Amino acid sequence: MINVLKIKCLAFVWIVLLGFSSCNLSKPIIHKQHADWQSNMPPAEAPIFSFFLSGDGGEPLPDGTDPYLQELKKSLNAQDTNSAVIFLGDNIYPSGLPSAADPKRKTCEKVLDDQMHAYSDFKGKVFWVAGNHDWDDGHSEGLDKRLNQERYIEAKSGRGNIYFPDSACPGPSAIALNDNSVLLVIDTQWWLHQYEKPKDKSLCGVSTEEELTNALRAEFSKHTGKTIFVAAHHPMETCGPHGGKYPLRSHFFPLLEFNRKLWVPLPILGGIYVFARKSAKYIQDTPNKHYKRMRIAFQTVFEEYPGTVYVNGHDHSLQLIRKNKVNYITSGSASHISHVVRKDYLDFGLAGNGFVVVNIYSNGEKWAEFISVNAQGSTLIYRQKLD
Ligand SMILES: [Fe+2]
Repeated sequence: MINVLKIKCLAFVWIVLLGFSSCNLSKPIIHKQHADWQSNMPPAEAPIFSFFLSGDGGEPLPDGTDPYLQELKKSLNAQDTNSAVIFLGDNIYPSGLPSAADPKRKTCEKVLDDQMHAYSDFKGKVFWVAGNHDWDDGHSEGLDKRLNQERYIEAKSGRGNIYFPDSACPGPSAIALNDNSVLLVIDTQWWLHQYEKPKDKSLCGVSTEEELTNALRAEFSKHTGKTIFVAAHHPMETCGPHGGKYPLRSHFFPLLEFNRKLWVPLPILGGIYVFARKSAKYIQDTPNKHYKRMRIAFQTVFEEYPGTVYVNGHDHSLQLIRKNKVNYITSGSASHISHVVRKDYLDFGLAGNGFVVVNIYSNGEKWAEFISVNAQGSTLIYRQKLD
């Protein structure tokens, strides 16, 4: 009797595992309210401005062979001057750009060179912001590596000041995109960094978290009535692992978090891993107390200005979340891919490589287009009018 029960249990587990492994991990998640997204069309005329969002590209395939960078370059080359691209941080994995004497320096420079090549013929504006990995993955050499990267990219790009905020300050740096839209760039790793970081008011204009929040509010007030983009590396809203969101399969197959082919059943380890990531210990995840303080401070400001568009990387996916009339766009899957969990407040999610374009039209409408990229090319996989 016991043996029959055992066999039945094993058969059940086997069927469940088979069911999991047949999941298409890259199937887009589209909220049921937007199932007919293809019939929602933006204005017929060309946009007056197009803003390309590319994040977490710090590990491209080398020497121009990376399909993502090839597709991004193709799209950028088709643009006129009324356009911009921003690289949303984690521009070099795993720990940023070391000093010139370091044996790893040349390899790391090459990672940036390959990304810079994507905009070598681009007529629009270019912006970069840092992520946690660019700050030595949050470790003690963070400030030096962050400054190394700013110097290298600006010297090599030949486009002037394009890395923001300057000098590893927190920002916000305000840059006009056109007459009616402005970009505010914040270095969110500055907030989370536990080692040396610039706190000199004469250099940065702000020296504390509170002053940074007040400066952000002041920039919003100065640009009231315009389309305001805020760009930073860390998400304020995410349905990915950095938000402590895990699908059931992560409890059974934790190695999928590191390699999407590793369907190795490790249920006990999986449970421990997911519990640890949800426990708010890790400073790079939104439930962490330092991170949460930042989210509350910034989101309070955003919600005073309906229609704000906040764009970030960090989670390796494409996502659109709209909450309290604020649009949150994640574009962090240039090099890596991580899961997205379906939630009622998630309009769109893709655990796949890609980038996002926000088009602004003359009537003031703004539409986000989500572009999926693979070895065969790029495809418009979702489009939505923003708040
Ligand atoms: Fe990150």
